[in-house]
Amino acid sequence: DALTLPKDLLDFYGYSAQAIRDLIALAERLKRERYRGEELKGKVLALLFEKPSLRTRTTLEVAMLHLGGHAVYLDQKQVGIGEREPVRDIAKNLERFVEGIAARVYRHATVEALARHARIPVINALSDRAHPLQALADLLTLKEVFGGWEGLEVAWVGDGNNVLYSLLEAAPLVGLRVRVATPKGYEPDRALLERAHAYFTHDPKEAAFGAHVLYTDVWTSMGQEAEREKRLRDFRGFQVNGELLSLLHPEGIFLHCLPAHYGEETTEEAVHGARSRVFDQAENRLHTAKAVLLTLLS
Ligand code: CP
Ligand code: NVA
Repeated sequence: DALTLPKDLLDFYGYSAQAIRDLIALAERLKRERYRGEELKGKVLALLFEKPSLRTRTTLEVAMLHLGGHAVYLDQKQVGIGEREPVRDIAKNLERFVEGIAARVYRHATVEALARHARIPVINALSDRAHPLQALADLLTLKEVFGGWEGLEVAWVGDGNNVLYSLLEAAPLVGLRVRVATPKGYEPDRALLERAHAYFTHDPKEAAFGAHVLYTDVWTSMGQEAEREKRLRDFRGFQVNGELLSLLHPEGIFLHCLPAHYGEETTEEAVHGARSRVFDQAENRLHTAKAVLLTLLS
């Protein structure tokens, strides 16, 4: 009962609602069974990373190991994507060596070019436009907590960034309702908001009120460090703390993709408090990564 999916996972375009549901169902089974297998025996995944990572790198490496395969980590200092060597040439080399590429890049166009030029699957391990592996772990976490997605109200408070983009892409496929609150100037793409039928506001309290989920991410993403001072000013009032969390639905939970910048978008109390499911969410990166690798690399 192998699932058929597009060759690559760059974002969720081309992914059906059924494909997403099947991936999450597979991840649930792999988690329940603490699965170890040999399906990817002898297969190698290249991790081509322009930026640092804890969760994405570790879960992809461990997932490959649990499925009988192996991962090779290639950092930007060694490979020099677009500097030492053009993306096309990297793709046309790696496809001769390995069975898949997971790439963490600054520009989404880089993962698109890798996917276009390599005949092997390319997985987006975070770009400026999308973080699909994160959204899959988020969906699994919501399913575990609430039993399903239909009608859940998810409030995103903070930057209109890559993590939000993937959540917005996934939302209409599974029936999640997203409310987005960003400061002026940090709104996500309007077409994406419309496709997701998302509610938009500049008021974090309005977004949080009665929601089942409050989700945030750093105000300054990797690569935006030069804007940090300005962002600290612009995002004032958008911190997810005990006060904002108290507005949620009584069963409401807090999610954060991590890493957290404490004292900025959130507090230690929020991440380590009773409503937090942040570390289940992080664990689910492993199970969903396994589901993706098993499906795309088998
Ligand atoms: N959430 C996430 O992608 O974490 P890393 O940047 O540590 O991989
Ligand atoms: N928006 C953050 C997510 C990190 C997992 C970034 O791009 O740095």
